[in-house]
Amino acid sequence: MKAFIKTYGCQMNERDSDALASDLVNAGYTIVSREEDADLLVFNTCSVRDAAERKAKGKIGFMRKLKNKNPELIIGVVGCMAQRMGNTLLEELPHLDFVLGTGQLHTLVDTVNKVKFDRTRLALTEPSPDVLTGLAGHYDRSWSGQIAITRGCNRFCSYCIVPYVRGRELSREKDDIIAEAKMLAANGTREILLLGQNVAAYGLNGDIRPPAPDHSPFADLLAELEEIPELLRIRFTSPYPSYFNRKLIDTIARSEKICHNIHLPLQSGSNRILQAMNRQYTNESYREKVAELKAAIKDLTLSTDVIVGFPGETDEDFALTRVLMNDVGFEQSYIFKYSPRPGAKSASMDDSVPESVKEERNQILLNDLAERVVVKLNNMVGKTVTVLAEGVSARNELRWTGRTDNNIVVHFEPDDSVQTGTLRKVEITRAGSVTLFGKLV
Ligand code: SAH
Ligand code: SF4
Ligand code: F3S
Repeated sequence: MKAFIKTYGCQMNERDSDALASDLVNAGYTIVSREEDADLLVFNTCSVRDAAERKAKGKIGFMRKLKNKNPELIIGVVGCMAQRMGNTLLEELPHLDFVLGTGQLHTLVDTVNKVKFDRTRLALTEPSPDVLTGLAGHYDRSWSGQIAITRGCNRFCSYCIVPYVRGRELSREKDDIIAEAKMLAANGTREILLLGQNVAAYGLNGDIRPPAPDHSPFADLLAELEEIPELLRIRFTSPYPSYFNRKLIDTIARSEKICHNIHLPLQSGSNRILQAMNRQYTNESYREKVAELKAAIKDLTLSTDVIVGFPGETDEDFALTRVLMNDVGFEQSYIFKYSPRPGAKSASMDDSVPESVKEERNQILLNDLAERVVVKLNNMVGKTVTVLAEGVSARNELRWTGRTDNNIVVHFEPDDSVQTGTLRKVEITRAGSVTLFGKLV
């Protein structure tokens, strides 16, 4: 039996797909990379923007051709769009066999068997607590591994569909996470990436009030993971800004393993827009948080998410975002054009910013970023950095790539002793537009 899995959307979805692949392999499937070769097609979907849904729907619609050729082919849609649309997807797409929502992913193998043997079609979208303990398998084993620590989100930012499609925020048991990390480490993983919609809310029982300065179960989890000797680096994404309290900042600052590269979603620099977005910070308090982080954590680099063209965003609002971004000096930023999501609160607001203006604002921020990055990369020339060696470069087989603690890709010529998943020092000799070049020292 052969299965093909395609993933849309965020790293959480990538992680879920990897766990699903592991479940399928345990049930006797081989994972294949071409739809044409498979007996089972699984599409793990995203709803965060309209474009993400359209892309998946186009692809899934196209699979009708394969089903016509091979009526035994089983096709399933899972994940966030499956959760949002449920039965409607089965009605819209007659060649689909099953739909599994985000709280039912752990039932994939059972569902496929039911569909096959009962010759029935199924849509399951009722959340189940078992999803929190399931989905722990890993198919793609390498020097880098991902671990989901929370599922769902309680924050209800007004533009966002995630709390509706991923459900209430739940934290996994710490022992389960540690066991998963130890298992990965014993199998060669040297870097772990902890995942959640709001990772720093880990262990706070869904409370949306930021914790007291000395209370951070997330920091406790990080400290415990740091004790695993084989692990060299620990990363996480994404934390909501207001959860960076004293304890968490100190834990990161003190650590040799927790990377000094933080993704701190901003969304907007205008207090009026932030309020309409239901984000619980202001331009000023965001700046204060950044100042606190920079003061405590040496060589800190920051990345962010920003939405342009939220309902009512004026030129002045946009200018506030732009100035704040340049002041903070983000090393990376992901800019999104606002997309109204049915069901999210902002869908009832007038999507007033024309597409051309959204596009223009998007380009301005991307240009600012590109200019900033060139300067920052050129400042690195002559310095020596530590990289985690990843393997032969995809672009040039004479070179290897590695990544700095700050997530910058460095290309270097290998020596005989270089090994994937080890730390090496590289002297930077030249800067590209987004990466660095150097030689081993
Ligand atoms: N939980 C994460 C974000 C997950 S969604 C966090 O809060 O950091 C990833 C990004 O998609 C968001 O940060 C936001 O910038 C963007 N996004 C979410 N909903 C959107 C929408 N309706 N239109 C455009 N961008 C959106
Ligand atoms: Fe969406 Fe806000 Fe939750 Fe992030 S914190 S997933 S943007 S609701
Ligand atoms: Fe998309 Fe779901 Fe992630 S909506 S961004 S795949 S949580």
